[in-house]
Amino acid sequence: MQKPDHARDDWTIDQGWSNYTEDEHEVWNLLYKRQMDVLPGRAASEFMQGLKALDLGKGGIPEFESMSDELESLTGWRVVAVPGLVPDEVFFDHLANRRFPAGQFIRKRHQLDYLQEPDVFHDVFGHVPMLTNPVFADYMEAYGKGGLRSLNFAALKNLAALYWYTVEFGLIRTDEGLRIYGAGIVSSKTESIFALEDPSPNRIGFGLERLMQTDYRIDDFQQTYFVIDSYEQLFRATVDTDFAPLYEQMKGQFAHSPETVLSDDEVLHRGSQAYAKAGGRF
Ligand code: PHE
Ligand code: FE
Repeated sequence: MQKPDHARDDWTIDQGWSNYTEDEHEVWNLLYKRQMDVLPGRAASEFMQGLKALDLGKGGIPEFESMSDELESLTGWRVVAVPGLVPDEVFFDHLANRRFPAGQFIRKRHQLDYLQEPDVFHDVFGHVPMLTNPVFADYMEAYGKGGLRSLNFAALKNLAALYWYTVEFGLIRTDEGLRIYGAGIVSSKTESIFALEDPSPNRIGFGLERLMQTDYRIDDFQQTYFVIDSYEQLFRATVDTDFAPLYEQMKGQFAHSPETVLSDDEVLHRGSQAYAKAGGRF
């Protein structure tokens, strides 16, 4: 990937909020409304509270500066605009400094259900609400710092799997039942239902080394979701562990395929994998 000419050294750009068209704001509103049909009772309360605290449903694509002022007052995080995916080192450096890099563009109407690159809806609606939670906010900073450190090891794949199975596709166990906190799920109407209710995928208790060694699907629903008990559990398990020996041992490889169930897994639900076996892709 090459840095566009209009981007700064840290790959940030101006959001250019006043340049969004009426139609682009309407795409946000449409996506927001679709998610509100499915998220109450499915998304984690911390996520729903974050949406509310930042007033992300007030209508239209949020303006990053004023949203960041609010977010900063809560947990010290800000949101910065980037053109799309940025190099790993740049991404980690932003997180390590409590800046969340968010795509500036919004998907087109024919891409409501799926698009390859993270846009402003995925990044802001999906990721930013959880950054209002103090423990999750600390986890994300620690992840960025860990990411910078991981660049000295050939282990990016293993660290990326941790992000994937928590930040993007994580589930949490609550007294009311399983809930979604992963950004990749909460920003997708179909996967919000699939991840919690479909008999197809495995739902397995969180284990750090287990998930760092598990391959994943990048263009379809997951075959396995990992379930944490609390954000504290996630924070402690990752921050209290020195990853260097894990990286040495894992060598940037995945020992387990996406659908694997191991004998020592805590299996909350053993998936039928019917969806994946039928060829998947929604
Ligand atoms: N403890 C990890 C390390 O030693 C850093 C880290 C913390 C990574 C939190 C991810 C999340 O590198
Ligand atoms: Fe994401």
